[in-house]
Amino acid sequence: MNFSPRVFSGIQPSGDLHLGNYLGAIRRFVPLQHTHETIYCVVDMHAITVWQEPDALRRATREVAAAFIAAGIDPKKSIIFNQSQVVQHAELAWIFNCVARIGWMNRMTQFKDKAGKNSEAVSLGLLAYPSLMAADILLYKATEVPVGDDQKQHLELTRDIAAKFNNDYAKSIAETGAANVDGEFFPITEPLIAGPATRIMSLRDGTKKMSKSDPSDQSRISLLDDADVISKKIKKATTDPAELPSDVEGLAGRPEADNLVGIYAALSDKTKAEVIAEYGGAGWGKFKPALAELAVSVLAPMNNEMRRLLDDPATIDAILRDGGERAGAIAEATMKDVRNIVGFIR
Ligand code: TRP
Repeated sequence: MNFSPRVFSGIQPSGDLHLGNYLGAIRRFVPLQHTHETIYCVVDMHAITVWQEPDALRRATREVAAAFIAAGIDPKKSIIFNQSQVVQHAELAWIFNCVARIGWMNRMTQFKDKAGKNSEAVSLGLLAYPSLMAADILLYKATEVPVGDDQKQHLELTRDIAAKFNNDYAKSIAETGAANVDGEFFPITEPLIAGPATRIMSLRDGTKKMSKSDPSDQSRISLLDDADVISKKIKKATTDPAELPSDVEGLAGRPEADNLVGIYAALSDKTKAEVIAEYGGAGWGKFKPALAELAVSVLAPMNNEMRRLLDDPATIDAILRDGGERAGAIAEATMKDVRNIVGFIR
């Protein structure tokens, strides 16, 4: 392998970012800036695979960008941009549509879940979604992709597409001189899957994922909730009546307790065992206020910064444009080779 370490990840601008998006993804993007070249993308082209009101899409795109920055992603150090600014994403996705097989797409559980029984009536884009995701990643020859557990299958498909492209076009890749030492053009990207502490569940039901589509606003902490609301939601969170166990094993079969301890651990960069070492045996009357205080200390400053940024959309747009230009330069270098490899005349 001689691909330089480069991280790429994407978040959909589909509105209402919550604690699950922050702890499961955005927060984990921040430290990677010190060890890798990092590219973080607001995937607006993925968002429109299901209907989005144009004004809501613009707002949600800026909201994700603001969350990136407020969480500590430095737009000078990392590249932050929205996908549609770099047209090469669509160009490479088309080529990957011709590399990937329909059967691969039909097997994706996210597609099956989203399409439900009505798979003939959903957009063609929803079926091809993983092909665009592979293009996002491989346009930058990203070696590592931090994603949640639910994206593992899409990452595997990205690896399959990279391997099939490398194989189908091996002769042309060699002639172009664009291969690495192993004759590969695209890297076989590694997923960086979040640990269990970063799978955040609903505050009302510890067996369901925290989700923007849950009808109860009490079930999630929005990144735009202020200190007061955050604190109230945590104090009202559903729990069983028992006190916290004296070891982590004691969290088994207690989904709500496990979730709140997990949130505490993720917000304080500790393990659940460390949290239990401190709070084992404590009742909710002690643990919930401690968690509320911790959550407010991390989230309220972020929330203020997000609001400040969202009040000044021109600045966000300028950051996205600058990121788009820097991403575009890398993307175009890859596409020059790809067009050649495939046999397109320019
Ligand atoms: N599919 C991802 C999700 O829904 C978002 C995404 C799009 C992504 N392109 C990506 C994630 C590239 C990582 C890398 O969460």
